[in-house]
Amino acid sequence: MYAAWTVKHKPKSLIEVVGNREAISKFERWLKSWEKGFPPQRAAFLYGPPGVGKTVTVEALANDLGMELVEKNASDYRTEGKIRQFAGLASQFGSFFGKNRIILLDEIDGVYGTVDRGAVPAITQIIKETRCPIVLTANDFWNKKLVAFRDKKKYLIIEFKRPLVREVLKHLKRICEREGLATEEDALKFIAQRNEGDVRSAVNDLQALAQGKKMLRYDDVSWLAYRDRKDVIFSVLRLVLYGKSCASAKQAIDMADVDLDMFFEWVYENVPYHFNVPSELANAMEALAKADLFRGRIRRTQNWKLLRYVIDFMTAGVAMARHESKSSGWIPFRFPQKIRMLSTSRVERRKKLVIGKKIKRRMHISAVAAQKEVLPYLRIIFENNPQMAAGLTGWFNFDEEEVNYIAGGKRKAKAILKTLK
Ligand SMILES: Nc1ncnc2c1ncn2[C@@H]1O[C@H](COP(=O)(O)OP(=O)(O)OP(=O)(O)O)[C@@H](O)[C@H]1O
Ligand SMILES: [Mg+2]
Repeated sequence: MYAAWTVKHKPKSLIEVVGNREAISKFERWLKSWEKGFPPQRAAFLYGPPGVGKTVTVEALANDLGMELVEKNASDYRTEGKIRQFAGLASQFGSFFGKNRIILLDEIDGVYGTVDRGAVPAITQIIKETRCPIVLTANDFWNKKLVAFRDKKKYLIIEFKRPLVREVLKHLKRICEREGLATEEDALKFIAQRNEGDVRSAVNDLQALAQGKKMLRYDDVSWLAYRDRKDVIFSVLRLVLYGKSCASAKQAIDMADVDLDMFFEWVYENVPYHFNVPSELANAMEALAKADLFRGRIRRTQNWKLLRYVIDFMTAGVAMARHESKSSGWIPFRFPQKIRMLSTSRVERRKKLVIGKKIKRRMHISAVAAQKEVLPYLRIIFENNPQMAAGLTGWFNFDEEEVNYIAGGKRKAKAILKTLK
């Protein structure tokens, strides 16, 4: 079964939450103090950057103390009316079953653009009268709309900081152990450093990078460093694909300080779209194959002298394959598959997963396999054959948005949906 590691390996107990020890024990003391009567501060306000463990701390602690956790989020407090709906919960100390209750108003800054004016006073009013602990979380403490919650007398204000690399590393290691994934320490360290204390994205990176591997090496992750440097890559790529001389194509790589393995992926992904004479495309691919051969040899023998052959083949070799091939107008460069997988947004990943699940239902394969093995073919069909795509849409029960996504645009999707009707 597919599960995001942030969910699958979410700490269930406080001891698994890394970093912010002091903040966490302050919060724990406050929560325990409720057993002795109402404390002066009826609510705690946890703030700090995304993905550092605010929400998970509250969840894990509630679990440790056997408390009933009532979680509310953005959509529950957009209007005064909605807030009133949970006021009742706060008016009793415990739940029906005798468990103590804790109410979490998560990410309250996330909604303040759209809330109505009565929302903040309604929340502060509930907090004033509450008989059970209320916890607020937010990213931006200085948000003007949250001024009402900055009163230290009424709120226990606790800052969550980004956990240290060492602490994030500990969490990543634990996950690898549970997943039976062997790793080079440097690989995990690299991921932890790169994410600067955002544990959630570190875990997401780890999962994406480890997919299908039993061993994660530093070399598997180091190219990530270049993920954000598209602009440099594009100009180097242009020189390689359209270079007029060996020298200029070769220089391109020196010009910009790009990682060779990563650059290889870029060239490999884009060559097919930039050569329209088949024999020339074959020659370019042949050059890349040779570059790859030497890459492999270097990896095995550590004989770095061979590097110049890798460079020659993947730059000059590709450039010199072009004789008659012309670029037919402007063709955008494509992101290498490998990188694309990692840079797709959370929204897109979710969309893919939903599609994967629909495929799974029909084809009896896992949702992950569906995304990897079936979706690419659907893409080709949806881009080229509206008739067949319409049939498949019906069979898989895709909705309009999903068809849009698979077809890669509204125009193509429209043709498919029209056929369907
Ligand atoms: N300190 C941590 N220790 C262990 N896991 C963590 C920690 N912080 C985050 N995680 C992982 O990342 C996920 C998201 O964390 P959490 O929801 O607590 O972040 P947050 O600080 O509330 O962020 P946001 O401000 O975006 O709500 C958790 O489910 C957990 O898997
Ligand atoms: Mg949160």
